[in-house]
Amino acid sequence: LRDDPAAVGEYTANYICKRINEFNATPQRPFVLGLPTGSSPIPTYKVLIRMVKEGKLSFKNVITFNMDEYVGLPRDHPESYHTFMFREFFSHIDIPPSQVHLLDGTAADLIGECANYEALIRSVGGIELFLGGIGEDGHIAFNEPGSSLKSRTRIKTLAYDTILANARFFGNDITAVPRMALTVGVGTVLDSREVVVVVTGQRKALALSKAIEEGVNHLWTLSALQHHPWALIVADGDATLEL
Ligand code: GLP
Repeated sequence: LRDDPAAVGEYTANYICKRINEFNATPQRPFVLGLPTGSSPIPTYKVLIRMVKEGKLSFKNVITFNMDEYVGLPRDHPESYHTFMFREFFSHIDIPPSQVHLLDGTAADLIGECANYEALIRSVGGIELFLGGIGEDGHIAFNEPGSSLKSRTRIKTLAYDTILANARFFGNDITAVPRMALTVGVGTVLDSREVVVVVTGQRKALALSKAIEEGVNHLWTLSALQHHPWALIVADGDATLEL
């Protein structure tokens, strides 16, 4: 628990930095990092960028996999998650672009794209640390309420509440928000050796209480983390108001 989103970002970035540096002390293979979009991880990305600029951290031996991407938005669309990640993070750090992976929501074969993503994650030895955020309905990545807790990377129709919440990025026009996304599954997230989730703001308070104080439930997919042996939630005071 930290006071505010900036302090959550500071803590989370320090945590990730420590993990990467420990891992890189004896590098046998690259560190595989799962990453989210959304406003919640931005303070963490800001601190990680600062650490790279200060020479405390390098992403040269890191491979990344993003959680999700809208279906139908070209990579260079201003609201694609591809654009978001380069604008907010990748363009400011020393990661070789060939080590960055995002799902392609414009692939001709979307099912094949999802299967390839899972295969690619397996081929690099699985994800070491998955950083995530949550939606107001408790979704992790785009695993909307009702998702199987064993789900893998797939096409998901977005919940109406998610479309409403994300309309702010599309000029408040809900008709402009894509109806579907490609997303890693809950099972994909649970397979990573460690999961770190940032939860900030009162809008997330109900989801946080459902996910950690009630039973494991596919209607609040974050709750699946109760089954993970190494999961950490970094929250600010506002997000804990319902606990
Ligand atoms: C989208 C993303 C999620 C993210 C959520 C919350 O739905 N697919 O991965 O956690 O937004 O976004 P924010 O952090 O802006 O509240």
